[in-house]
Amino acid sequence: MIYKTIKVEASSCYEIIIGRDILSRIGEFIRPLLGNCRVALLTDSTVDEIYGERIIEYLSAAGYAVDKFVIPSGEASKCADNLLEFLNFMADCKLTRSDAVIAFGGGVVGDMAGLSAALYLRGVKYIQIPTTLLAAVDSSVGGKTAIDIPAGKNLVGAFYQPSLVCCDTALMDTLDASVFRDGCAEVIKYGVILDKELYANLRCVDFDRESVVARCVEIKRDVVQQDEFDNGVRGLLNFGHTFGHAIEKMSNFEVSHGAAVAKGMIIAARMAPLCGLCDVSQELGKLLGEFGFNLDCKYTADELYDAILSDKKRRGDNITVVLPRSIGECILVTLTVEELHDKLKQILL
Ligand SMILES: NC(=O)c1ccc[n+]([C@@H]2O[C@H](COP(=O)([O-])OP(=O)(O)OC[C@H]3O[C@@H](n4cnc5c(N)ncnc54)[C@H](O)[C@@H]3O)[C@@H](O)[C@H]2O)c1
Repeated sequence: MIYKTIKVEASSCYEIIIGRDILSRIGEFIRPLLGNCRVALLTDSTVDEIYGERIIEYLSAAGYAVDKFVIPSGEASKCADNLLEFLNFMADCKLTRSDAVIAFGGGVVGDMAGLSAALYLRGVKYIQIPTTLLAAVDSSVGGKTAIDIPAGKNLVGAFYQPSLVCCDTALMDTLDASVFRDGCAEVIKYGVILDKELYANLRCVDFDRESVVARCVEIKRDVVQQDEFDNGVRGLLNFGHTFGHAIEKMSNFEVSHGAAVAKGMIIAARMAPLCGLCDVSQELGKLLGEFGFNLDCKYTADELYDAILSDKKRRGDNITVVLPRSIGECILVTLTVEELHDKLKQILL
């Protein structure tokens, strides 16, 4: 069983282990970090149904006492009520500061488990076991944790790094095609912002999963190490997201995150030449089309602009957008909100 280890050196240091069929070795991976302890396992109903017995078996065989907490699958579960219930659950299970949380699921589970670990007893260790492509390449790495509140997505959170990320790519075999494709939008994003070779190797969803996940994780690791607390270069990871979040929100989350990011990346690519940069929109549109993304935006410039104004990335009358200079290189461009509005009107009707 071959696996690759990637080290992150942020405010705390940890490893990301990536391989196929490595879940059975989870006990061996976590023992040096956790020693003997109880673990609170957070998962969602879908993941629990498919893999729940297996993960408990592996952890128990390694001598861990496991307290499992299952939330319904879906974004709506990443909420304050569930966070509080999980914190109460940990307290009822009498977890102490030497115990740990394990996130076993996609980004929803990972974000909430991370925040719970940051809050419980002012911080216990946590391990990420991502089960979606998006969680593997993005949310499990870098220590951003959050829940959603009625005022908006991810508005309550903390920077809190995991002690380990263990990514078994075989877990993704059971993903719905649309959920897998959502993750592909993030993979393509990494190629456009920082790695033209990665981009060139992506032609369809059948890419070599282990090497692509590892490359994306290395890119994210490099960015996080330079700007852990998101004050500069980490903003590049938002390529397509400012527009994508607005589309997601306007659709009442009927357009999935990945599908919205794909539309958002195309809007950003079309905005680039209006800011004196190259136009990669045709090339990017072709690749996104090959992955099955529908790139139409049914919203007008005015509608998109209004939704973007409430984005948490806005600073006063300025907003920073990520625009491609070429495939493999993006830059941060700060526009006034009027400039943004004007450019959106040139792109969308
Ligand atoms: N923290 C960060 O840096 C960061 C970055 C990007 C996204 N996010 C967050 O991540 C979340 C989205 O993550 P996601 O796309 O993984 O969504 P998700 O966690 O909702 O998972 C998507 C769906 O796949 C199912 N699923 C998960 N693993 C499965 C498996 N192995 N087999 C079958 N089904 C499985 C889930 O039950 C769910 O229905 C959002 O809340 C977003 O805000 C966080």
